[in-house]
Amino acid sequence: MYRIESKIDPASPEFIGHKKEYLELLKVYRQRIMQVRKGGSPSSVERHKKRGKLLARERIDLLIDPNTPFLELSSLAAWGSFDGQFPSAGIVTGIGVVHGRETMIVANDATVKGGTYVAETIKKHVRAQQIAIENHLPCVYMVDSGGIFLPEQAKVFADRFDFGRFFYNQSRLSALGVPQIAIVMGSCTAGGAYVPAMSDETIIVKKQGTIFIGGPPLVKAATGEEVSAEELGGADVHTAISGVADHLAENDRHAVQICRNIFQTLKYQTKQVLKLSPIEEPYYDPEELYGIAPIDLRKPVDSKEIIARIVDGSRFQEFKARYAPTLVTGFANIMGFPVGIIANNGVLFSESSLKGAHFIELCAFRKVPLIYLQNITGFIVGKQYERGGIARDGAKFVHATANARVPKFTVVFGGSFGAGNYAMAGRAYDPRLLLMWPNSKISVMGGEQASGVLIQVKEDQLRARGQEMSNEDREGLREKIMKKYEEEGSAYFSTSRLWDDGIIDPVDTRKVLAMGIAASLNKKFEETKFGVYRM
Ligand code: COA
Repeated sequence: MYRIESKIDPASPEFIGHKKEYLELLKVYRQRIMQVRKGGSPSSVERHKKRGKLLARERIDLLIDPNTPFLELSSLAAWGSFDGQFPSAGIVTGIGVVHGRETMIVANDATVKGGTYVAETIKKHVRAQQIAIENHLPCVYMVDSGGIFLPEQAKVFADRFDFGRFFYNQSRLSALGVPQIAIVMGSCTAGGAYVPAMSDETIIVKKQGTIFIGGPPLVKAATGEEVSAEELGGADVHTAISGVADHLAENDRHAVQICRNIFQTLKYQTKQVLKLSPIEEPYYDPEELYGIAPIDLRKPVDSKEIIARIVDGSRFQEFKARYAPTLVTGFANIMGFPVGIIANNGVLFSESSLKGAHFIELCAFRKVPLIYLQNITGFIVGKQYERGGIARDGAKFVHATANARVPKFTVVFGGSFGAGNYAMAGRAYDPRLLLMWPNSKISVMGGEQASGVLIQVKEDQLRARGQEMSNEDREGLREKIMKKYEEEGSAYFSTSRLWDDGIIDPVDTRKVLAMGIAASLNKKFEETKFGVYRM
């Protein structure tokens, strides 16, 4: 494969200025990550530690193999909501390696409102299980939770993807032959009791873990019976009397070690085989991404410059380089794994859509994972293009993306607007992971376009009534809409609502994608069957 020839000059004042600006964005991102990693308030963290308990992230560190990374997902879930009372939505999820097996880990953070669940917590837990289902990843649930955050019950209990979905997913995972282990390290109340009860094996920590369908206050209210939490559902009760738990642990460390021991007994997992190449670092320094990643989305960025700083040796076997250049397609390797890359280089035309669909067919046929690099304002508009059938051709691209059964991974490195989001494997198209860069933006259209549309609609309405819009009103409306889109289009707004799997530092893109691909190999790739392409 030939190496991409970069046209960037990292010594140019323009590059240096851009990088400086980007590092400011990154500073904000890192501060936010550090903040949520602290968990709940200092007093609740102290109280937790005084009880001899480890923090959620400490528990995870002990569980995973030494010197292996943990890919934490959606760390900034619930960011900007609940007055900052739910850092990381009170739950830590992510992929780590346990005895050589990529594993989905779901750990409640009891320092955040007793580890209780608000809507974002639930979305995060369900998403983690969804990833486990799609990739056949074993699950470890580190349970330490008071169940539903009761003031929010109307938003979290009854709907299809609410609290009840956890146990549906556990049942489905079990039927798929995916192992699930629960470690009860604290409270496990009400519906939460099914987490250990539905796992293959359950460990419970002495004088710390409790499992019950109704806690002592509920029992008293319902039956008048007075009983302590330990007597009702402590570790002794469940390991010696009820059999709801299988292993008694002395403390958190012991419990985690028992879990690791269980992993040694799991069934051998046959994996999808890929043609691997020797790993090569990118020829161009990934840190140069800070000087390239788009901050002002109106300025075009050559996506090949991005690809050159993500893939092995900066080598890229481009497909149809001379045709429809607003979509870059081609093959490369990431940490030795073969990948097909589809990257935006401008607006999508009919030709770019056809090129995209063709390339997806190649990847599906060759069983090569697909990487979508999004920086897209949308499909081209205008009379000429509508007459040329842009809707029909765009549909082919969307259709190919939706039906390709090889693992798809999406990174939003710039804008993600309009139907371009769909064709480029947005959330609705089930990429195995969807990641955002801190500079990225996502909304139905940009603020400028949206204000243009809405002002036009308003003006037409007024004109029909024989009225005119004043300049002042027009500017006022424009400002209001721009402000709203600025806020709602930010990567933080997206990640807070779990529209993605997290914001990542651009430099980590390569590592994160490699982990995602490694995890995806736990399930054999399916055969792709496309449907009707309208010609
Ligand atoms: N809903 C809403 N808030 C809850 C809650 C729940 N289910 N469970 C705990 N909280 C809140 C507490 O009010 C407290 O809030 P604050 O920090 O603003 O004062 C915070 O979470 C920590 O709770 P606290 O009881 O002080 O901590 P703890 O570590 O001693 O105990 C629990 C944690 C979860 C064991 C305990 O709070 C409990 O038993 N909660 C009720 C569990 C239950 O019955 N759930 C049924 C819902 S399905």
